[in-house]
Amino acid sequence: MTGGVAAYKSVELARRLRDAEASVTVIMTEASARFITPLSLETASQNRVYRSLFDDPMAHIALPSAADLLLVAPATANSIAKFANGIADDLLSTCFLAATGVRTLIAPAMNRRMYENPAFRRNLDSLRESGVLQVGPSQGFLACGEEGIGRMAEVPEIIEAAAAALTPKDLAGEKVLITAGPTREYIDPVRFISNRSSGKMGFALARAARNRGAEVTLVTGPTCLTPPPGVLCVSVETSDDMLFEVQNRAGIDATILVMAAAVADFGPECRADSKIDKTDLLTLTLKKTKDIVATIGGGGRRPFIVGFAAETGQNPDRAEQKMRSKGMDMIVFNDVTEPGSGFDTDTNRVVLIDRAGRHALELMSKDDVADAVFDRLREIKA
Ligand SMILES: Cc1cc2nc3c(=O)[nH]c(=O)nc-3n(C[C@H](O)[C@H](O)[C@H](O)COP(=O)(O)O)c2cc1C
Repeated sequence: MTGGVAAYKSVELARRLRDAEASVTVIMTEASARFITPLSLETASQNRVYRSLFDDPMAHIALPSAADLLLVAPATANSIAKFANGIADDLLSTCFLAATGVRTLIAPAMNRRMYENPAFRRNLDSLRESGVLQVGPSQGFLACGEEGIGRMAEVPEIIEAAAAALTPKDLAGEKVLITAGPTREYIDPVRFISNRSSGKMGFALARAARNRGAEVTLVTGPTCLTPPPGVLCVSVETSDDMLFEVQNRAGIDATILVMAAAVADFGPECRADSKIDKTDLLTLTLKKTKDIVATIGGGGRRPFIVGFAAETGQNPDRAEQKMRSKGMDMIVFNDVTEPGSGFDTDTNRVVLIDRAGRHALELMSKDDVADAVFDRLREIKA
């Protein structure tokens, strides 16, 4: 931690990192202790807080040697200047210098004019060129009352960046196209048919693939979720829009297509151009929408295809049949009626089905399901 106003967020950060099962050791600069007491960080990290080079003579070597990740949040302009120029005049900057080979992530936070100052930018560029990772800052209202770039990234974003920094890049070189969320099939300009998909599974897949080093494009129907940073996000509404985007992108340069979207199976046969008058009785005639997976799966040059089968009831045979008939390489079956599974939950219990067999997984977070999908995919592709 260094001495910026955003230091108060580091208490929450330490707690959330511990919630994510990280072991956290805090090093505070003298300036940071003017903003937040070491006691708060000791409590949040449940660990000793280090402040001085001279309290523990070997700490400046032992701490970086023991770390998987050196995370500086907030990172002041002053400390970034020291890191970039090899200055080691306190415990943190000395640890930084001794942390060769340790993944390093900084979360800069400062006034916008400081952030835009060419002297600071040179230091930041030089750190990035030497492999230091950066999260944030974002635009917004700054503590000084000004508005602009310089706000420290929010805690969840820093944690996501830390997780990404720590994940082995076993999908590097892969171009992963993922679909997520529901589609909307319009009846008239104000009404549509849709479904309960929240998009959480598809977004978890996008995060996992990005963390594992893939170049990720996420084609998503309407959701309330924030697109994961570092992922190209394409928003669509209807199944036709989704088909168009997937067809355009899958054929050209995707190596893996993961169809986690709940694309509507049916849509109105015709869409009225103006709002349909309220009547006592309205009969809607529905038609089948185009099957995106079958369209891509039946094509010539195609990516590795993973589909999802959301079923009501335990029917993995039906999912396997779907995988084979649509030319998929793997399908993820889940029973959406099971507690904790399916729509709008943070967890899922799935069966991974491919041509070599079936793997039934326990109930787990959608993030863990996403990793399990890519683990299995790598085994099949190997
Ligand atoms: C109230 C106050 C707020 C400050 N906020 C920031 C800040 O957000 N970012 C920054 O780079 N410096 C900020 N500074 C300046 C740093 O505290 C100063 O450069 C200090 O030397 C940083 O030391 P350190 O990098 O060792 O923690 C602030 C100073 C004060 C007095």
